[in-house]
Amino acid sequence: MEQGKRLEECLCVRRSIRQFTDQPVERTIIQALLEMAILAPSASNRQPWRFIILDDPVLVQKIRAFSPGIGGNPPCLIVFCLDSQRLPVMRNGTIDRTCGIIDLAMAAENMMLAATSHGLGTCVIKSYHPQIVKKILELPEQICPEFIVTLGYPKWKVPMPKRRSLEEISSYNLEVSHEHGRDL
Ligand SMILES: Cc1cc2nc3c(=O)[nH]c(=O)nc-3n(C[C@H](O)[C@H](O)[C@H](O)COP(=O)(O)O)c2cc1C
Repeated sequence: MEQGKRLEECLCVRRSIRQFTDQPVERTIIQALLEMAILAPSASNRQPWRFIILDDPVLVQKIRAFSPGIGGNPPCLIVFCLDSQRLPVMRNGTIDRTCGIIDLAMAAENMMLAATSHGLGTCVIKSYHPQIVKKILELPEQICPEFIVTLGYPKWKVPMPKRRSLEEISSYNLEVSHEHGRDL
């Protein structure tokens, strides 16, 4: 197995990959990536995540057919789901779904950085049909697909899409109110 890359290097080289080789991803590696995913923080440590791993080519193709956002032909898909029964309940008795989505996103980033360290490529997919995916995968009512992460070996390197500058998007203390012409 390839020597793991350092965290900062993984942060810099991780890209959304939309073209994959045919090489399958070993289940031992998938397990190792998910072990990193579950180290993410979660609201009240509820860990409301549920990961559905698809490495059966027939299932992958079925999901792909209903997921216009999937680029290329990834050998593996991981469906990131929320378990509604594990979501935090707010004081007024309603379920806090937002916290669950934050938890899931943090787990996904952990997993994607770990994948990068193994030389794997990933892409978050939100453009898909959650209800159809839920049906195809015969998921119980409480397990709700939120997004998919594709996984496979990248066909080639991808350049980094331009980032907005820190100068444009960050400020200290009350600077933002002055930028907007308001005095607090
Ligand atoms: C919430 C979310 C939804 C996304 N949905 C898709 C998608 O459906 N299809 C796709 O190709 N990329 C999708 N992406 C990937 C973004 O396009 C990508 O992260 C962005 O262009 C920056 O590129 P980078 O990840 O290589 O830095 C999504 C990313 C996020 C965070």
